Amino acid sequence: MTPTRTALVTGANRGIGLGIAGALAARGDIRVLAGARDPAQAEQAASEIGGGAVGVQLDLADPVAAAERAAAIEAKHGPVEILVNNAAILTEGSALEIGSEELTESLTVNAVSPFALIRVLGPGMRERGWGRIVNVSSGLGTFADGLVGPAAYSISKATLNAVTVSTARALGPAVKVNAACPGWVKTGMGGAGADRSVEEGADTPVWLATLDDDGPTGGIFRDRQAIKW
Ligand SMILES: NC(=O)c1ccc[n+]([C@@H]2O[C@H](COP(=O)([O-])OP(=O)(O)OC[C@H]3O[C@@H](n4cnc5c(N)ncnc54)[C@H](OP(=O)(O)O)[C@@H]3O)[C@@H](O)[C@H]2O)c1
Repeated sequence: MTPTRTALVTGANRGIGLGIAGALAARGDIRVLAGARDPAQAEQAASEIGGGAVGVQLDLADPVAAAERAAAIEAKHGPVEILVNNAAILTEGSALEIGSEELTESLTVNAVSPFALIRVLGPGMRERGWGRIVNVSSGLGTFADGLVGPAAYSISKATLNAVTVSTARALGPAVKVNAACPGWVKTGMGGAGADRSVEEGADTPVWLATLDDDGPTGGIFRDRQAIKW
């Protein structure tokens, strides 16, 4: 099968991002642009993912630079029709144990740079009349669950959830923007004690990345089911 759509996955070099990228590429109809901050790891990931995947260097530490990179990636590789904002950092500590630097860094990588990528790539999706954006979030970023995670992480994921609702409204209805909670997954972030495999964690993000035209937008999903913000 010749790929008909192009997907950009951030943090595709390991963990859930690698799982999402692999599952998208395995379908046969999607060409994956595997984002990683280290160019060598992007190349390595692309060869691991297979199916014509291409490694692209993409660091989210600076939203302005990330937006410029995304525009350059699109100029080189063609329209990005699926964006999976997967990359994130988790900094430990309660609200009294972290400083504003840690909060700023988490907000930047986990929410502001994902927003910057949506701002660059979303309008083209809307003009072309088709797009899928998945923000890999967490139940730890939902008010419904009490924002019980490490403070910088929970606050940044709550912000990413707000980015999801706001950009879905601005880009819809042909561009579906949703958040996914992958569950507790065995990765560098989740640790060895987690109860889900990478494949299980990737399932809902992949489902959202390939939604039918009558699929939802502006929601948050775990196990393909809507959950409360
Ligand atoms: N694991 C879980 O239990 C769990 C639960 C809920 C939600 N999530 C979410 O799922 C997503 C993937 O998590 P994971 O468990 O796969 O985490 P992970 O194993 O720690 O991988 C994180 C990925 O993000 C990348 N990254 C970090 N900072 C970056 C930056 N400045 N620029 C570009 N990439 C950067 C990492 O790249 P490097 O290799 O260069 O560091 C890596 O590829 C995250 O959004 C996470 O919050 C995970």
